[in-house]
Amino acid sequence: MFSIKSQVESGCLTSVPPKYVFDKSSSNCISSEAETIPTIDVSLLTFGTPDQRSKVIQDIGNACRDWGFFMIINHGVPETLRDEMLKGCQSFFNLTEEEKKEFSGKQLFDPISYGTSFNTNIDTSFFWRDYLKVWVHPNFRAPHKPAGFSETVREFSKRSREVASELVRGISESLGLEERYIEETYDLEVGSQLLVVNLYPPCPEPEVAIGLPPHTDHGILTLLMQNELSGLQVMHNGKWVPVNDPPPNSFLVNMGDHMEILTNGKYKSVVHRAVVDNKETRISLGTAYGPPLDTVVSPAPELVDCESYGSAYRGIKYRDYLVLQKTNHLDSKSCLDRVRI
Ligand code: OGA
Ligand code: NI
Repeated sequence: MFSIKSQVESGCLTSVPPKYVFDKSSSNCISSEAETIPTIDVSLLTFGTPDQRSKVIQDIGNACRDWGFFMIINHGVPETLRDEMLKGCQSFFNLTEEEKKEFSGKQLFDPISYGTSFNTNIDTSFFWRDYLKVWVHPNFRAPHKPAGFSETVREFSKRSREVASELVRGISESLGLEERYIEETYDLEVGSQLLVVNLYPPCPEPEVAIGLPPHTDHGILTLLMQNELSGLQVMHNGKWVPVNDPPPNSFLVNMGDHMEILTNGKYKSVVHRAVVDNKETRISLGTAYGPPLDTVVSPAPELVDCESYGSAYRGIKYRDYLVLQKTNHLDSKSCLDRVRI
């Protein structure tokens, strides 16, 4: 399957090919209000006074409940590392198609897979996106090209995993649980971490195509960063809120489907999508944190209110959930619907 990057660079595309036309008509209402996603200073979790710490935990709880999406600043991952990581990803995609072919995984759990769209075997329309997915934890893997990339990926993965663990502890407390409850119950210290790099080349008719359709992320939470171009939109109160101009050196954090499952719906995973630009190439880089692949995630008993609702989701192995997602269309919350009781 041809990458969208190589098709764009061939210079032949003056319009969007029919295979890439994506019908947005069912939900395309862009929020006109000046709504902004909350920003959280996560350094206060570690270095704040007890009062600052409890305030920030409360803010995290509100952001998780009201938005499911927030930006974090002062997270401790150096800006130089983040820039190096973005540059490395760009260089990876700049390898020739022949070189990149070596990394095109054949199976869902292959440690490295380079490809285009989401699942070209079943996608009814294709997405304007090439990707590189790498399982970086608990067993570290990374492409051996371009030179130095693997070391950067290793360092970035480690540092961003530390941020995610800190957040999970804050989130655990925000739910009234012990700080380490979530990580201990779902074995997050072993855990798993999937790095997903998205490349969205310029598109001649951005309104007709889509980079990534409305979807939610698997896993407990995702940290996302991007180059200077915006494109992410988050569903909030029935409308798309564009995420423009995030603060410098910030990460976007969003709740994944497994956070929704384990909190029994208290913190919902949020539908989001990526739109494309007609001039520039956008790169975004997400890291999904989850439990080990063989861990069954079901609602935490402490969060199940038996008298009124009981469990809203059945338990499912993380691995089986990933299979479910990859063998279905990437479509809003369809996958989570399959485990709802
Ligand atoms: C994703 C994703 C959004 C973006 O990779 O799951 O939602 O802005 N990416 O690229
Ligand atoms: Ni996503």
